[in-house]
Amino acid sequence: MLKVGVLISGRGSNLLSLIEACATSGFPAQIACVISNKADAAGLGHARAAQIPAHVISHRDYPDRAAFESALDSKLDEHGVQLVCLAGFMRILTSWFVDRWRDRLVNIHPSLLPAFPGLHTHEAVLAYGAKLTGCTVHFVRAEMDHGPIILQAAVPVLDGDTPDTLAARVLQAEHLAYPAALRFIAEGRVNVYEEKTFVTGAAAGDKALFNPS
Ligand code: GRF
Repeated sequence: MLKVGVLISGRGSNLLSLIEACATSGFPAQIACVISNKADAAGLGHARAAQIPAHVISHRDYPDRAAFESALDSKLDEHGVQLVCLAGFMRILTSWFVDRWRDRLVNIHPSLLPAFPGLHTHEAVLAYGAKLTGCTVHFVRAEMDHGPIILQAAVPVLDGDTPDTLAARVLQAEHLAYPAALRFIAEGRVNVYEEKTFVTGAAAGDKALFNPS
């Protein structure tokens, strides 16, 4: 069983998808702890309801990023965490933390990276007029929203979409993508070579996805 630590800052719907996946029989990972940098993060409730140790480590209680990240790191170690999943964690991590957890630290971003990194993703997709968007699960590197891509899922952008309707469609894909990526990692099937990942034995559809079709 791969021991996973999940870092959150808010709603925690991706956390919930990981909790539910880990609760299915034969799933090769377990969530050892959840850490939020915000005391009022709704996601903490999902962790507590599932009897997963849930901690608040507020960045405001530390003089600088180094001290904050060292507290995160100690808590993850205390729980024997082997893989860290960022799930709506809204703090930029320094290269110290990112290097320490290299290829053991993953993030989910609500676009098809490298398109539309950063915040306000769905607004940017709509402003640009992209016809497909989606989500990306990737290993974290020091540069924000960069790093070897593990898995992506695509959804169409529809006429009349608002940032909210598009976010909801992408979020449905996220809730499938993150558990799928976690399973691949926990099964030891994800290898990073020259900053690309290779997922052994994974099937990919070979059909083009059109929008409009
Ligand atoms: C998700 O859209 C995720 O892709 C992004 O932050 C959002 C977190 O949502 N990194 P939730 O807290 O998991 O509901």
